[in-house]
Amino acid sequence: MDLTLSQGLFALQSLSLTEIQSILRRAQEFCDGVPMPDYSSKLACNLFFEPSTRTSYSFQVAQNRLKMRSLIFSSEHSSLQKGESFYDTIKVFDCFNPDLLIVRHGKEKFYEEFAGSIDTPVINAGDGAGSHPTQSLIDLITIKQEFGYLAGLNVAIVGDVLHSRVANTNIEIMQRFGMKVFMSGPPEFLKRGMSFFPLLELIEFCDVIVMLRVQNERHDSKFSLKDYNFKYGLNSKMLSLMKPGAIIMHPGPVNRGIELTEDLVECSRSRIFNQVKNGICVRASVMEAIFKSLI
Ligand code: CP
Repeated sequence: MDLTLSQGLFALQSLSLTEIQSILRRAQEFCDGVPMPDYSSKLACNLFFEPSTRTSYSFQVAQNRLKMRSLIFSSEHSSLQKGESFYDTIKVFDCFNPDLLIVRHGKEKFYEEFAGSIDTPVINAGDGAGSHPTQSLIDLITIKQEFGYLAGLNVAIVGDVLHSRVANTNIEIMQRFGMKVFMSGPPEFLKRGMSFFPLLELIEFCDVIVMLRVQNERHDSKFSLKDYNFKYGLNSKMLSLMKPGAIIMHPGPVNRGIELTEDLVECSRSRIFNQVKNGICVRASVMEAIFKSLI
């Protein structure tokens, strides 16, 4: 039994590169049309305490393709409205004896709150500004599909690095895979111990430009978006300076006209909707890896 995955997936740091490569290989098989296994005996409970479109629904689609049963939690119609705590809500779902909990919550490392107190494996679908492991797996497979390899590629991560769980997860795992990661954005979004470079300096040699959503909901004071695209974003002028073969990514949702101008979201260099498509195969592969680890 794989002890790490048998408890679920909280952060990619707990997985070796070999384990991650195995999940990505299997995800690519699914993307290439290999039939997904039949998990019709399995029940997943999807508990999203923060809004989501891509993660929430691609988990549901993946569960559907794996013939699993899914139970969708709605916080507005739950006893959270009567003052029940997050911990007790998770405990209640654990008592239902499902095979998997998929949880997104605004609190960083929310999973530490119930570690050791529940039996069901948990997949972290995003913990505040902490990490977003399945999104980073999607980003890695999207890059691998483009270039065929990861090590040695130059990546720019641009924008609200401070509040981005995707940036946190990507920086760690991309560096572990031997990619060179550079960051850029407004000084307000700089994390302690990191350096920002002007995007103009990165654009000519980076193979991958990962734009980040400005996370207004996580800002203490209102951040002005005036001139954001001109100063820190991508537009047709920046596009013309990109390295041949370089691609644009964004975990979504995109603030069109802010991180990227409208015309770039679906331009020939954009892989933004490829990332969304890859979400289903990656999440199916992660769920399968967890079920296999329990055998
Ligand atoms: N990338 C991502 O997590 O998007 P959602 O918030 O729509 O799930």
